[in-house]
Amino acid sequence: MEQLIIQGGRPLRGSVRISGGKNSSLAIITAACLAPDVSVIENVPHCRDVLTLKGILEALGARITLADDRMTIDAQAVSHHVAPYDLCRTMRASFYTAGMLLARLGKVQVPLPGGCVIGSRPVDFHLRGFAAMGANVLTEHGYVHAETPHLTAASFFVPRSSVGTTINLMLAATLAEGTSVLENAAREPEIVDTAVFLSLMGAKIKGAGTNTITIEGLHDLHGATYSVIPDRLEAGTYLIAAAGTGGDVLVEQMIPEHVGALLTKLEECGAIVERNTDGVRVRAGGRHHGVDVDTAPFPGFATDLHPPFASLLAIADGRSTIRETVFESRFGYVDELRRMGADIRVEGDRAVVNGVPFLSGAPVEALDLRAGAAVVIAALAAQGTSIISNAENVDRGYEHVEEKLGALGASVQRVETGTEPAAVAQAG
Ligand code: UD1
Repeated sequence: MEQLIIQGGRPLRGSVRISGGKNSSLAIITAACLAPDVSVIENVPHCRDVLTLKGILEALGARITLADDRMTIDAQAVSHHVAPYDLCRTMRASFYTAGMLLARLGKVQVPLPGGCVIGSRPVDFHLRGFAAMGANVLTEHGYVHAETPHLTAASFFVPRSSVGTTINLMLAATLAEGTSVLENAAREPEIVDTAVFLSLMGAKIKGAGTNTITIEGLHDLHGATYSVIPDRLEAGTYLIAAAGTGGDVLVEQMIPEHVGALLTKLEECGAIVERNTDGVRVRAGGRHHGVDVDTAPFPGFATDLHPPFASLLAIADGRSTIRETVFESRFGYVDELRRMGADIRVEGDRAVVNGVPFLSGAPVEALDLRAGAAVVIAALAAQGTSIISNAENVDRGYEHVEEKLGALGASVQRVETGTEPAAVAQAG
């Protein structure tokens, strides 16, 4: 177990380069295994979830190397249809192996996925989609078993906007017989990115990025080379951190349109946002003021940016609310921020934040990936030292976090739990 020790109160200044998208990479790397061929994926971030997926796919028979940000996937020998529980249980996106294996091998046995503790995260839509494509689907002893000698195209209405369902069914449909139509498909940039990669593999997909995606199934696909889009959630986190610490940061290599709703809210808070050809620069505009936010599927305000944004609102002037519409239990971070002096309470699906003038460093926990981002931002902005336990949760989605923050002037140190200097432990 590792901890991050952060001495707060230093405004972030300078520029930071955003890594390739974690969520895009997870979908695209799995997609590469649809073809018995070699694919090369560039701009892949070295975050824990990517390394976990690499392990899962290797257990299925793929041969994968990751050098710098370039992943080479030789999927010729993918032949095992049972995904390993120990790796799958830590990560929601492990369930993409279900769509891929069903299409490639006609059968799959995948553990019910794990991931962040942010509310019930069923896979019922995925399973209904596979069944609509002719698979016999059974959930037993913690595993999903799905099998069909003949995957057939289907028209499927996704019951509510679901990124995972849209990607999983898109993967399966590329090799199903006939033309599938996904209605009420999610529109996140990661879906478009995956569809672009699948098209390079030879797949016939139309409409990704709209609510209706049409996939003409083929007998086989081939390998391709592709560079993943920048991580909009990492970009959003650094933009919020810049404003929250009273800093001035240029976030390079990002796509502003992917975080449009966040940029609007940052401006509404009083931050100064400049979109230019190098990226997006955010400068704190004195003390920010409270705003009301509703999370929503893309292009709305991303649910993943809710906890980090709450850390900014915790020290903004006045009252704010954040209504969470995607995951009902995304409020775990609230108790952690309260340890640091934040005045936040949860009322049903809303966090009500009364801004305080400052936060104080404290021992806190990164309860999940984005809750971890929230406590990192709060610790950077707080007076004094914070010790963040379970740093591994932050590493699930943020590459080189202490190096990137350090280059922006933050004081962030990583230690093994139990090895922190005594003075720091007492200060926390
Ligand atoms: C993905 C992202 C995650 C992001 C989320 C919403 C990855 C690896 N993760 O998660 O970072 O927060 O999209 O943008 O890309 N649902 C069901 N049944 C299902 C599937 C989903 O009820 O079978 C519900 C979920 O509980 C949730 C909502 O649909 O309330 C949206 O979930 P979904 O978009 O599927 O999230 P993920 O793909 O798991």
